[in-house]
Amino acid sequence: MNFDLNKLVRENIKKLKPYSSARSEYSGSADIFLDANENSLGSPLKKWYNRYPDPLQKEVKKKISSIKTVAEENILLGNGSDECIDLLIRAFCDPLQDNIIICPPTYGMYEVYAHINNVPLKEVPLLPNYQLNLEGLENAIDGQTKLIFLCSPNNPTGNSLLHEDIEVILNNFEGIVVVDEAYINYSRQRSTIADLKEYPNLVVLQTFSKAWGLASLRLGMTFASSAIIDVLNKIKPPYNISGATQELVLQALDNLADVNSMIVETVKERQRLGEELTSIPVVEKIHPSDANFLLVKVVDPNGIYNYLKSKGVIVRNRSNVLLCEGCLRITVGTEKENRDLVQLLQQYPVPVS
Ligand SMILES: Cc1ncc(COP(=O)(O)O)c(C=O)c1O
Repeated sequence: MNFDLNKLVRENIKKLKPYSSARSEYSGSADIFLDANENSLGSPLKKWYNRYPDPLQKEVKKKISSIKTVAEENILLGNGSDECIDLLIRAFCDPLQDNIIICPPTYGMYEVYAHINNVPLKEVPLLPNYQLNLEGLENAIDGQTKLIFLCSPNNPTGNSLLHEDIEVILNNFEGIVVVDEAYINYSRQRSTIADLKEYPNLVVLQTFSKAWGLASLRLGMTFASSAIIDVLNKIKPPYNISGATQELVLQALDNLADVNSMIVETVKERQRLGEELTSIPVVEKIHPSDANFLLVKVVDPNGIYNYLKSKGVIVRNRSNVLLCEGCLRITVGTEKENRDLVQLLQQYPVPVS
């Protein structure tokens, strides 16, 4: 496989002279800062947020680097991993010219960002066992294919993609393979982060929104070669991660034990919820999950969705999604929430056909 990053980056991005922010031009300490047109008087809060934050989030990256054993130069932080997805498409895909490949059913934002950026989208659906269609992918890849988005564990199906299949694509595709690992902490399968040294065409996405319990702070991680990270840094908004987010995430990164115990609890509840759902008459199938949700096939998805909604319980109706016909996607809740859900489903009458 001949990987040449230079051939993949859009010409306008290669030529781009990035914005030079005040805090990137001067990042040392000083007595008086009069360079960024901030409000020198303070903030209408007990704690002040009047100064622009570190544009490269060095402290946060230092901690992430030691936890993930990935060098800081191989990390880019985004306003949620959604921002990372958008940056990747904008860095590598010329509108109406280059294309990306996705494998539905999968996370919806790859498609949305392709459309926003006017980038053609090719779809190679997963096989009925929710694994990659390698032959289909081989046929779909053309000279203009820049990115392939793989989601593992996959949303909404919940399964991990086979590692050996991901490697086949990494070994044969001359563009960039993005492996979205938003749910990796709940998975039995190891992260592809370990493969970054071997594959210059690999980008791994992770997020603080799931296992870390910080969805509201909006922090996503991109791991890749320093050459790819440099390209993304050129185009990201200068202060894309707020100071408050950086501060709070730094605190969270010291609380790894709490995160790990939440992961253990969620995985235990996933197992228990799955077992309890099996005995409910309206439940037809529970797909095996490596994530913090279950894809559950039920006899009357729309009816059950509306029934649960009327009882104040909101699940995701995926019954109109390809290969998810009849399915609801149910996030694993607290023990009490899961028990309430099971009780409600037990009371739902089996429709007579
Ligand atoms: C597979 C996948 N990737 C990315 C995201 C977005 O994560 P973030 O909150 O970091 O933008 C989600 C959110 O549900 C997701 O399911």
